[in-house]
Amino acid sequence: MAGPLSRAGALPAIRPVALPRDRIGLLALDTSFVTDRIYAVQATAASFTLVEQAVAPPIRKAFPLEDELGDDRLWQQGFVAETGDALAGFVALRYEAWNRRAAIWHLYVAPAWRGRGIGAALLAAAEDFARTAGARMLWLETSNVNYPAIQFYQRMGFVWCGLDQSLYDPGGDAAGETALYFSRPLG
Ligand SMILES: CC(C)(COP(=O)(O)OP(=O)(O)OC[C@H]1O[C@@H](n2cnc3c(N)ncnc32)[C@H](O)[C@@H]1OP(=O)(O)O)[C@@H](O)C(=O)NCCC(=O)NCCS
Repeated sequence: MAGPLSRAGALPAIRPVALPRDRIGLLALDTSFVTDRIYAVQATAASFTLVEQAVAPPIRKAFPLEDELGDDRLWQQGFVAETGDALAGFVALRYEAWNRRAAIWHLYVAPAWRGRGIGAALLAAAEDFARTAGARMLWLETSNVNYPAIQFYQRMGFVWCGLDQSLYDPGGDAAGETALYFSRPLG
């Protein structure tokens, strides 16, 4: 499924993930982000508002994949961006037949490759899979602190469609964060 740029040799090719063969490459992928701004969630009795807010020092977070690649994984289909000797990106999703929605579970591009269209190319591969499966929309969850990813998703046409202030375990890595949901219809 190589796009025009990868055919020209400028960017990694996109192909379906192959497990367990890709496990080592996926575990080597740097999934982290750093941000000096977040979306603070302001709530009233009848509304929620996202307010852009600076944070100092910057927040750095990563998404460990160790527990996400086994036979008990919850995603159904994945695609990787392959550079030859390494993986530059990964997307994984699951089609939910009951409401015909495809949920993006993972999307990461290695820092050295960011800003070169790989995230968009991975999303396009996920979209093709979702369409073929019969999905009417793509849907995803991210955190209110992942400001860079939210910019990316909005640029890709996703719209904020909900939130959950109780999703994350107060004893876990995402304590105090709010889950934000974004969706994009598949025309
Ligand atoms: C979010 C992420 C996947 C984007 O991948 P990417 O390869 O850098 O994105 P692309 O180069 O395909 O960008 C596509 C568009 O989004 C825009 N974009 C990407 N990141 C952006 C950012 N931080 N701020 C503003 N716009 C951004 C690009 O400018 C581009 O716009 P264009 O179409 O006008 O050129 C990548 O930054 C990443 O892996 N982040 C860390 C992991 C993460 O947080 N994943 C999401 C978990 S929910």
